[in-house]
Amino acid sequence: MSDPTVPDKKPFLYVVVCASGIAGDVGKLITAAQEANWDVGVVATPQGLGFIDAEAVEAQTGYPIRSAWRLPGDPRPLPPADAIAVAPATFNTINKWAAGISDTLALGILCEAYGMGVPTVALPCLNSAQAAHPAYRRSLDRLREMGVLIGSWEPLRPGTAGGADRYRWEEALELLDSVAGTAR
Ligand SMILES: Cc1cc2nc3c(=O)[nH]c(=O)nc-3n(C[C@H](O)[C@H](O)[C@H](O)COP(=O)(O)O)c2cc1C
Repeated sequence: MSDPTVPDKKPFLYVVVCASGIAGDVGKLITAAQEANWDVGVVATPQGLGFIDAEAVEAQTGYPIRSAWRLPGDPRPLPPADAIAVAPATFNTINKWAAGISDTLALGILCEAYGMGVPTVALPCLNSAQAAHPAYRRSLDRLREMGVLIGSWEPLRPGTAGGADRYRWEEALELLDSVAGTAR
């Protein structure tokens, strides 16, 4: 039986951030997740690091951003993930993840999440020229077969303004509610 004097440990959400022009708004997802009772840690791709305000993200989450593998013997900077939200998910990372490529820490975590049964959702952010590539459709099919829930982003033509306003960060939490209810 749980001790009523000890607050329940919150479930831990990894937000995987890729190198998209909208990545700088990831604080919106962190805020929404924290309001929904998640503790949050950010894992950025090496390219994605350049698109976010690392200091602000670390202040908001209270955890260091992970981007590179730790050295053997170094402590784990983040607790294990109860769920993962990839947002924004780039064309590049989606295709590599689906193909089982693990050449960034973010991809390594995502590739292992399937085998470890960690509930995972992805909100793609890419343009219609990227989405037209046959590999992209196949990658989404593969990820769905793996149980990954994919957001409803409709790609815009390259160079179209206003994408950031249409990106529904909160959809990550809506999707997680349907797959990760047991983790919370
Ligand atoms: C300003 C800028 C915005 C970009 N936005 C996107 C994007 O929204 N989606 C995408 O798939 N790629 C975008 N790219 C290209 C990615 O940054 C590039 O493919 C990168 O290699 C992705 O790396 P990652 O998947 O490891 O994060 C953008 C590049 C730049 C310079």
